[in-house]
Formats: sequence, structure tokens, C-alpha cells
Amino acid sequence: MNVIKEIQKLKKDLNAVILVHNYQLPEVQDIADYRGDSLGLSVAASKTKADVIVFCGVHFMAETAKIISPQKTILIPDKNAGCPMADMITIEQLRSLKQKHPNAKIICYVNSSAEVKAESDICCTSANAIAVAQNAFTDDDEIIFIPDRYLGSYTKAQTGRNIILTSGYCPTHAKILPEHVLAAKEKYPNSEILVHPECNSAVIKLSDQVLSTGGMEKYVKKSKSTRFIIGTEEGIIYRLKQDNPDLEFFPISNIAICPNMKLTNLAKVHASLKEKKFEVTLPNEIIKKAKKSIMAMLDYV
Ligand code: 13P
Ligand code: SF4
Repeated sequence: MNVIKEIQKLKKDLNAVILVHNYQLPEVQDIADYRGDSLGLSVAASKTKADVIVFCGVHFMAETAKIISPQKTILIPDKNAGCPMADMITIEQLRSLKQKHPNAKIICYVNSSAEVKAESDICCTSANAIAVAQNAFTDDDEIIFIPDRYLGSYTKAQTGRNIILTSGYCPTHAKILPEHVLAAKEKYPNSEILVHPECNSAVIKLSDQVLSTGGMEKYVKKSKSTRFIIGTEEGIIYRLKQDNPDLEFFPISNIAICPNMKLTNLAKVHASLKEKKFEVTLPNEIIKKAKKSIMAMLDYV
């Protein structure tokens, strides 16, 4: 039996689903039961009736699924698939910020640990950060946005809210520079430039639209343009081309590759199902507290 057939058989035997982030390798995207951005994957994790979820993405995404559905078995095919941005805010740093600003509300980007989520007021993803900042608190509330300084400053600029920023960032999106945007514009004329809000402010300024990966997928279907320059991790281009064969997609630069997202492959998904590894576990107390922040975020889908 080939590996894909074996994966399908194991999935049936275990009543499992495979959730796949848009940045994953094409071979992994092809076996997805659901493929999407962080918000879409969280919603899928909350709705599935499966007993087992194999999460092809990075660790904070699998942890989020565990928090939403603690009774399910959540597997991550490679336990080293972390997100460096999530490690840029520790629980100690969050507590010290809260001490400095005792009345501030905390918006925590889902790219963070379960422990940090547990001590935040609400989570957000790049798809709903603006809606969360706009609606979750009163106009006068002081807000601390952790850990992404670029998504935080974009949200601050768009909402005019009183937002305190921290210093985290995504090392993959940080590689995208204004000169890449200008060069891509020249190389691919008459294209719309779509960038992820994890890009720096100078890159955002040169773009036409700022969107989460799921937002990009929706946007290209309604835009009048037929050519798009994509300013995010390159994995999404496979999906965009597959779903929109009549449109053209060009990477903004060839260096925006997240090494953690590329750790998962078919062989590891197969081993994950066969050997039930690597199971994501969290203390009940953390799950209980972090769930409040995540469920509050799901009001802004
Ligand atoms: P999305 O929620 O847009 O898929 O982004 C997740 C992520 O990790 C971006 O680097
Ligand atoms: Fe984390 Fe950046 Fe990779 Fe997204 S692309 S998982 S933010 S390191």
C-alpha cells in the first residue's frame, strides 16, 4: 500500500482528521481534510467530530486545538515544529508588563504559548486582530498587544486604539524588505500586491492589501486583478494556484520560507497516525484559563 492510502486507512480506523496550515509542503496540503489560516484551523478544530486531530502546522496551532477540544487526541507530526515569534513573549515578561500597566487589557496573538494565552484577556489572529481591538474593549481602555510588533502596530494604525506594543516579530516575514516589493513590482507589472500583517511597516506601506493567508485566498476570488504578488511565506502560493488556475501568483521574494512549517512531510504524518505521536498535552488549569481567551476570539470570526 502506498503512503497516502495507508494514511487514509489509519485516519478511518482512528476517526482522525488532518488539519493543514496554508504554509505546509504541497504533499501535505494535498492530504488535508481542512486547509486554512490560523483562525480557520481553530474553527475547524472546534467543529470536528473526529477523536484525533493530526495538526500539520506549528506547535502553538496544535496547542490551540488542544485547548479548544481537550477531550480529543491532538498529534503534531514533528515535535520540533515551533514558532520563534511565540517564544518572544514569556510568561514572566507578560506578568511584568501587567504589573507596569495594571489596568491594561491584553490582546494576545495566537502565535504564543498556552501559558501566555491563559493570562491574556483575548486572543486574535491576523484575520481578526482589527475586529478584536475595535470591539472587545471600550474606547478608553489601554491595550497591550503581544507578541508581534508589526501586527500590533498595523492594528493600532487601523483602529486608532491606545495600544502598547512589544518587540516580537516573525523572522520569516522580517526577511521581506521594501526593495523586494519594488523589484517584484517591476518584474511583474499590473499585479496587485498582497502582504501579510506580520510584514514590517515599510513593506505594508508599499502594498495594495494587507491580509491573513485565509484573507488572501478569499480576496483573489473577488478582485478584478488577474495577477498577484504574494508577500508572505511561499507555501500559500501552491494553494492559491491550485484553487485559482486562471490567475497568476508571484512570490514577493524567494527567501520567505518558514523552516518550521517545512518540517512536516507525508512520512511524518504517516508515523504520527501509526504510532500516535507526538501527542500535545497541557495542564488542565492552563487549558481552562486559555480556553476563555480563545473562545472570546472566536466571537470575531
Ligand atoms: P495566518 O493566520 O494568516 O495563517 O498566519 C499564521 C502565521 O503563522 C503567519 O506567519
Ligand atoms: Fe511563526 Fe513566522 Fe513561521 Fe508563522 S511564518 S509560524 S509567525 S515563524
